[in-house]
Amino acid sequence: PASTGRLPHGGLSVGGVPLAEIADRFDTPVYVLDEGEVRARCRTYRDAFPDADVLYAAKAFLSRAMVRWVDEEGLGLDVCSAGELELAVTAGFPPERMVLHGNAKSPHDIEAALRLGVGRIVIDGPSEIARLAAMVGTGGSQKVMVRVVPGITAGGHEKIRTGTDGQKFGLSLTDGSAQHAIARVLGQPQLELTGLHCHIGSQITDVKPYLAAVRRMVGLMARVRDAHGVVLPELDMGGGHGIAYRPGEPALDLTALARRLRTALVESCAAAGLAVPRLTIEPGRAVAGPAGVALYRVLAVKRTCDRVFVAVDGGMSDNPRPALYGVRYAPRLVGRRPAAQACVATVVGRHCEAGDVLAADVELPGDVRPGDLLAVPVAGAYQLSMASGYNLVGRPPVVAVDNGAARLLMRRETLADFRSRDIGD
Ligand code: LLP
Repeated sequence: PASTGRLPHGGLSVGGVPLAEIADRFDTPVYVLDEGEVRARCRTYRDAFPDADVLYAAKAFLSRAMVRWVDEEGLGLDVCSAGELELAVTAGFPPERMVLHGNAKSPHDIEAALRLGVGRIVIDGPSEIARLAAMVGTGGSQKVMVRVVPGITAGGHEKIRTGTDGQKFGLSLTDGSAQHAIARVLGQPQLELTGLHCHIGSQITDVKPYLAAVRRMVGLMARVRDAHGVVLPELDMGGGHGIAYRPGEPALDLTALARRLRTALVESCAAAGLAVPRLTIEPGRAVAGPAGVALYRVLAVKRTCDRVFVAVDGGMSDNPRPALYGVRYAPRLVGRRPAAQACVATVVGRHCEAGDVLAADVELPGDVRPGDLLAVPVAGAYQLSMASGYNLVGRPPVVAVDNGAARLLMRRETLADFRSRDIGD
């Protein structure tokens, strides 16, 4: 089984298909997704958390095939827009196994969730409660959770820390707005409060913040019981499970997380005299990230003032993560033995700004040249899903590999796609 610490695609082929063959057949840049690896990661979660509901966080990467794989592997889905929701439903995913998130759900999002019958809607703020109840309508009923900010600092970068006050998500435990919102939700006959939710951040490699969070959440559940006489049956602890982007980096130990989270949950429930709620988790990155490889062609090499710039045919439009979070990747040349002489290079993209850097100060063969293929492992999460149309370069295709065979899941975005949207005169 796959483990989040492994970098399965450091080599030259993925899913039994040589990367060079994929570049020839589908051109570059191209994203390669290893179906077997995605499925293995889903199974690792199911095995580690047999008593929990595991929801794949669709924001990490979504396609119709991905929807089918996670469905077949027994996971649910976390979606955060009508777009993600409708795509999953049209790909055959059962809406009752989905949870809708969002700090600013549009009327369109809520309308789609109610029409399609989404399993849970997670209330993120006070203004949503009456609005949602009104949209459900008299006599109707929608299962909801309340997103709580437990006051825990965790996460790989400031921009993806959501467990503390002072960021836009959820309702604060500290200032009482969570307790207040829970009381209001309980007062709405159209809303059935099934439990509480928290998501403390992303790219977390330590188990401890989850344990602290679960204790605070159980503490709140006990207060809800004391104040309202209601025992909430569910607790959703969100995602955020960190992975290694480079060899040797730490990753969250899923087995340890599962064991220690369960112990903390059981112990704190026992101390509070509460029945243990059903646990939900929502991993995105740890399911999709290590299963993807981004494959580029080197277009230009510039040796200047003691620096080597290796420019490839993609960049920040398909992977904004280095620019946004300063993430470090470990790219490598495909189909080339390491040269006797290595060089320290900066891999840059083709976009019109100096911040378009994919990997700074990485070791590559000293004779790297235009035409070489460059692979960036651990590219399956939050790259294509955050891709943009910058410079009208077009988003890369997605190719699935499995058992030695490659097939196109998503075609390359073309100029015709851009032109078909541009209907002005
Ligand atoms: N549940 C909720 C409510 C979330 O907001 C997220 C991620 C997840 C689950 C899944 O988290 P994961 O297991 O994938 O860490 N663009 C950033 C990551 C943003 C994460 C947003 N929310 C990045 O590229 O690192």
